[in-house]
Amino acid sequence: MTPTNMTPPRASAETRRLCSLAPVIPVLVIEDADTALPLARALVAGGLPVLEVTLRTPAALAAITAMRTVEGAIVGAGTLVSQNDVRKAHEAGAAFGVSPGATDDLLQAAAAMNMPLLPGAATASEAMRLLARGYDMLKFFPAEGAGGTPALKSLAGPLPQITFCPTGGITPDNAAAYLALPNVACVGGSWVAPRDLVARGDWAAITARARQAASLANSRANSRGDHG
Ligand code: 3PG
Repeated sequence: MTPTNMTPPRASAETRRLCSLAPVIPVLVIEDADTALPLARALVAGGLPVLEVTLRTPAALAAITAMRTVEGAIVGAGTLVSQNDVRKAHEAGAAFGVSPGATDDLLQAAAAMNMPLLPGAATASEAMRLLARGYDMLKFFPAEGAGGTPALKSLAGPLPQITFCPTGGITPDNAAAYLALPNVACVGGSWVAPRDLVARGDWAAITARARQAASLANSRANSRGDHG
């Protein structure tokens, strides 16, 4: 991908593709880099290939580098809030970045490093500013706190060209309602790989959760009907 591909109007081409691969992107907080490989294997085995490792722990960058070696895994870095975060994620080999919001500095760094970015927005104005810079695939954050499915339904009217990955407060109970919306491609959430299961090394339980999350694709396809 060349730098020009990352400038408007194609800034979201790759993240759009990634968000179409599975209905759920697990949001991972990794305390111990030694858990990275079995965790990634467990999630991919359950049908979730796109993984977001948050840059909130000292182990995160090493975890990204390790997880990239897992066949079928597409590993991105989350919680990018500064240019330095983007640079470190890029050096660790992150395939994409996720940010809770967006700043000019962050967008510039992502474009300069050719890093596909899923930037966060919670309001129409934030979404419109990102759209003007070529981003039409956005993280809707914090999903539940910012109004949940009613807010996304409202945004679909005036801004149908924007697709969202809602994240923040998504659970197995409410995920299907989000995925049923025409302007939602996938959701993000930490429930698939909670810290206690990771700490215990209960990879079978995580694969089971991933499998359940991956099966949400069916309800999304069914409830979308003619919207495709
Ligand atoms: C985050 O950045 O922590 C994500 O929004 C995950 O939120 P969740 O823990 O509510 O799934």
